[in-house]
Parts: sequence; structure tokens; C-alpha cells
Amino acid sequence: MRKYNKRLVKLGTETAFSVSSEANILSKNGKKIYPFHLGDINIPTPNLIRETTRKYIDSNKNGYCPSEGILEFREALAQDIGSKRGVVYNAENVIIQPGGKPTIWKFLTCVMNKGDQVLYPNPGYPIYESQIRFQGGEPIPYGFNETAEGYKINLDELKSLINEKTTILIYNNYQNPTSASSTKDEIESLAKLCIENDLWVLSDDAYFEIRYSDEPPLSIVNIPGMRERTAILYTFSKRFAMTGWRIGATIGPKNLMNQITRLNVNDESCTNHFIQCALAEIMGLVDDEAKLILSELEERKNTCVESLNSISGISLINPESTFYLYLNIKNIMIQKNYNDIERFRLDALNQIGFSFCTRHHFGAPKKGEDDRYIRLAYSGINKKEILEGMKIFKDWLENS
Ligand SMILES: Cc1ncc(COP(=O)(O)O)c(C=O)c1O
Repeated sequence: MRKYNKRLVKLGTETAFSVSSEANILSKNGKKIYPFHLGDINIPTPNLIRETTRKYIDSNKNGYCPSEGILEFREALAQDIGSKRGVVYNAENVIIQPGGKPTIWKFLTCVMNKGDQVLYPNPGYPIYESQIRFQGGEPIPYGFNETAEGYKINLDELKSLINEKTTILIYNNYQNPTSASSTKDEIESLAKLCIENDLWVLSDDAYFEIRYSDEPPLSIVNIPGMRERTAILYTFSKRFAMTGWRIGATIGPKNLMNQITRLNVNDESCTNHFIQCALAEIMGLVDDEAKLILSELEERKNTCVESLNSISGISLINPESTFYLYLNIKNIMIQKNYNDIERFRLDALNQIGFSFCTRHHFGAPKKGEDDRYIRLAYSGINKKEILEGMKIFKDWLENS
């Protein structure tokens, strides 16, 4: 009997994609769907990126390139990423990747040993737990407190979870799904913990530039003692509406980057050559087009927040980052006589086509934790449909 690797049972997934499949089936059968479930973007990639990429396709940049990425692109990214975080990086600190996600497994492969305990956010991006478990580490979730200013990392809990087996902290400032953004104090407390306990850090910066505040974004990497222990997950996916292009980078200390390059050689050989040429040429010239994407997202966010706050039982603060809204729906579930969140989700989807993810799509809730939270993504639905969908959702909640 042919066998599969026993380790495969440890591999998790992104269950948000199964919500997409459910919604797609309903849509194919003629049901109108309001897609708030997936963090994909229905806005075109900036024109300059598309045009410049075409130019490099036509000039035959179709061969292999260095596994670590082309030098000009790595230099441009080192400058851009370093200056926005107040840190000096050079090309040797930047390794190009096919998207943001590969940094997670490559980083863990380089620094995690069997049995190591890895702190990761829960609710959070589900691939962290999947990869920690799959690669033989022990995933240790830390949570968030819901406050009047939004969601905050539960620092007391986090501290209490650290012991001699803890080797890594995964940190996602401007967080998916809660939109939590750390204050300077919170970041300093985290950095102190990492230094005191000699931890590696993965700073997932997927939403570092998806921000609606004039205050510059904060990064853990510029706190003394952090640059040498931190790898940054960088991606073009969200800021430039390039989720399907698959382009990103890992940024960090040179010795770690040398190991990551060896993984690139063994895995994809190199990342798409002509896209790298194009982005190297225009890095810094697409900021205005990126701002247009951001202002479209901001308008959608304000529309969603206003509509949701008009619903009896919902009170939501307007978050300053990401394109997600993480909603406490305790009151509306009680008002509508639901005690099972999955039943609530399925009924909203099947009855009114209002599609979203719940707390359970972002990791298993802890024993005793209230799971009555949902995440709405507004990146894949335009304003007109948001208004229509929200009206139907409100009617369904208040009048049916
Ligand atoms: C927090 C977080 N990290 C990483 C990623 C992966 O980004 P990419 O699509 O560029 O691989 C995502 C995508 O949704 C994300 O939400």
C-alpha cells in the first residue's frame, strides 16, 4: 500500500478560502453574494507597474535570475523598507520571494528546532500555526484584549507564556484580523521581552502601509537590539493590489538571509524575473497610485463602519489600518436568538448572501474564550455593493 507522509496531518490551511468556495457555488447558482470574506482586492494594479512589466516581458527578461533576487531590486527595497522603518538595510539584507507567505515557512525552517515553542497571535493569520506545527515546533497562541481604542495584545498573558523552550515571537502589527495597531509603549514592551528572553522575531508587515492615519507606521525593528533578531515579511500584495502577481521579500540580518537564499535555491530557484526588473525601475514612483488605492479603501471602510454602527447592538470603532473590520457580535446574536456562530454565518450567507469569516477562521478559540466575533474584509467589494449588502444585513438582523 503506497503511503503518505504522516506529518501531513499537521499541516493546516486557510479556511477563509473554503468560505470563498461556498460563496462561489451559491453565486454560480444565481444567488447574489456580498463578498466580505476574503482579503483579496478588486482594484486594478497601478498602471505604471503594469506598463513597465510589459516592457520587460517584451525585452525578454524571461530567463532565470539570481535566487536571492536581482541586485537593483534588492537595493531599491533595502532603501525603501529601511527608510520607512528608521533602519539601515543593504541589498545583502533583502531576499526576494514569490509573495509574503513564503517568508513564514522559510524563516521557521531556518531558526526553529523540533520542540521549540513559538508565540503567535490568535486570532491571527492561520498559516503561522500551520507551519509551526508542520515543522515540529509547538505553537503557543497569545490573544488580544478588546479595548475602547481597539484590540491590544494581552501583554500579561504573553509574558506568562514565555519559558526556557520559547525561541520565537511572531508579531503582526497592523493585524489581520483585528486591525490591532501597537502603541510605541506596546512595541517597546514586546521588544524588551524579546531581548530579555533572546527570542527571534518574525515581523509580519503585510499591512504596514495599509494605514489611514497621518502618523508614520511603527516598526519593532528600529528598537536597539531588535534589527539583528528580526526578519520582516514584506509583500507587494496588499499595498499595490498585486495579490496574484506573487512578489514580496524577506528582510533581516545577513547570516539569516544567506540561509534563506539556500531555501530559495531549493524551492522556486528564483522569483519572477521581469516583475523584479519593472519594480526595481519604478520603486518610489508608484506612491501616488498606491495612495489612490488607499483612499478607495478608506472610503469603503468609512462606509462599512457607518452602516454597521447604524445597526442596533453593534458598536464599532473605526480602525486606522488594514482592510478588515473585526466585530463583536455578542449583542446581535443574542437579539436574533443565535448561540452558534457558525450557524449565524451560514444563515447570513444562505439567506441573504452576506458572506464573512468568523473567529474560528483565525485559529481555535481558547477554552472559555467568547467566540462571537466576525471579520469583514472590504477590499474585494465596491462601495455600491457595500451599501446594498449592509442594508440587507441590517434588515435581516433587525426585522426578520
Ligand atoms: C497577515 C498576513 N501575512 C501574510 C499574508 C500573505 O501575503 P501574500 O498574499 O503576499 O503571500 C497575508 C495575506 O492575506 C496576511 O494577511
